[in-house]
Amino acid sequence: MKNKILPAVLISVTLLTSCDSDAPGLKDVFAGHFLIGTSIDRRELSGADPGALPFITEHFNAVTAENAMKWERIHPEPGTYYFDLADSIMDFAQNSGMAVIGHVLVWHSQTPDWVFRDSLGNQLTREALLERMKDHIQMVVGHYRGKVLGWDVVNEAVDEDGSLRQTPWLSIIGDDYIEMAFRYAHEADPEAELYYNDYNNEEPLKRAGVTAIVTNLKEKGIRIDGVGIQGHWHLDSPDFTVVDESINEYANLGMKVMITEMEINVLPTPAWLYGAEISKTAEYRDSLNPYAKELPDSVGLQLADRYAELFRLLLRHSDQVSRVTFWGINDGYSWKNDWPIPGRTNYPLLFDRDYNPKPAYYAIIKEAAKLK
Ligand code: G3I
Repeated sequence: MKNKILPAVLISVTLLTSCDSDAPGLKDVFAGHFLIGTSIDRRELSGADPGALPFITEHFNAVTAENAMKWERIHPEPGTYYFDLADSIMDFAQNSGMAVIGHVLVWHSQTPDWVFRDSLGNQLTREALLERMKDHIQMVVGHYRGKVLGWDVVNEAVDEDGSLRQTPWLSIIGDDYIEMAFRYAHEADPEAELYYNDYNNEEPLKRAGVTAIVTNLKEKGIRIDGVGIQGHWHLDSPDFTVVDESINEYANLGMKVMITEMEINVLPTPAWLYGAEISKTAEYRDSLNPYAKELPDSVGLQLADRYAELFRLLLRHSDQVSRVTFWGINDGYSWKNDWPIPGRTNYPLLFDRDYNPKPAYYAIIKEAAKLK
């Protein structure tokens, strides 16, 4: 069977002693404020990097499957589901007492073309696509019923101007595809929290679009528990006042707010590639990869200041923010090394490639200590 991770590998890595660093676990530092999560994927579980899982248990109390639960991975062909990798993530998380976030049920990206077509290649009708969406959600959410804290039910459905993104889901089903996805997810696991998740949804126009979705669901009595702000951010953008406003605005709608995929890019990047529109990329140039050997101290300190500013804000909102998830365990694992420009060396997280805490780590710990 594909994607099989041997339980023995899991057992042996979880028995390793925790990482060498005497840096306190993030999850303990922020206990009482919010969950601290990380993405997790095949590489961390494979045993190839024996430090990965002990490091995760040391610092995090929530995990999000970075890729394992996406449609193209878990349900790549009609009627065929591959749960092995996601099951391994679930086993690891349960054995370590961590919350699991299901990512993601309905997304325009990483969804195979066949999903929208019949066996003859014709576009599905609204009814047929709804049926297919329902089957997928019942199967995936049902498989993990009672085990997942919450699901990213719909991901990235809003454009930068606040309108609904043009996707096959929208054009074939119509704009109620979002509410149908939430209805199906709730039926499949009535206990699970249900989230809408997006990037740049702290910006006012996009935020208005997300607010409209939440309001519509609530008016119809459909369960939605929270809004995920992905947090694919930069040293110079966004101005965190928009994050501050967004947390208040979503929370005022009764939503839990989560920062769901956070990192802060330190490399020069054209502004049109800010965000996480993965269909957009640019070609590699050495001038866009200035820290190929190491991160200069001055930039490491800029990163630390930026993280400190952000965590000051998040801690101020800790009654509204339920989780902060980093998109990667250390700099070497970040998708930002290969997007939007492949082959760069990025440093967007709190730990370096050898799991050493960076100034940014100490900066956020200091913010938490101020509240003690
Ligand atoms: O696993 C294969 C490997 O076998 C193959 O050799 C290699 C060659 O390209 O590809 C590997 O798969 C890549 C995978 O990441 C694992 O590294 C895929 O090509 C690549 O498309 C995939 O990218 C992921 C991306 O979503 C698209 O699914 C990133 O890891 C993941 O961090 C990123 O996460 C998304 C969130 O789900 C939604 N929000 C935006 C965020 C960033 O794009």
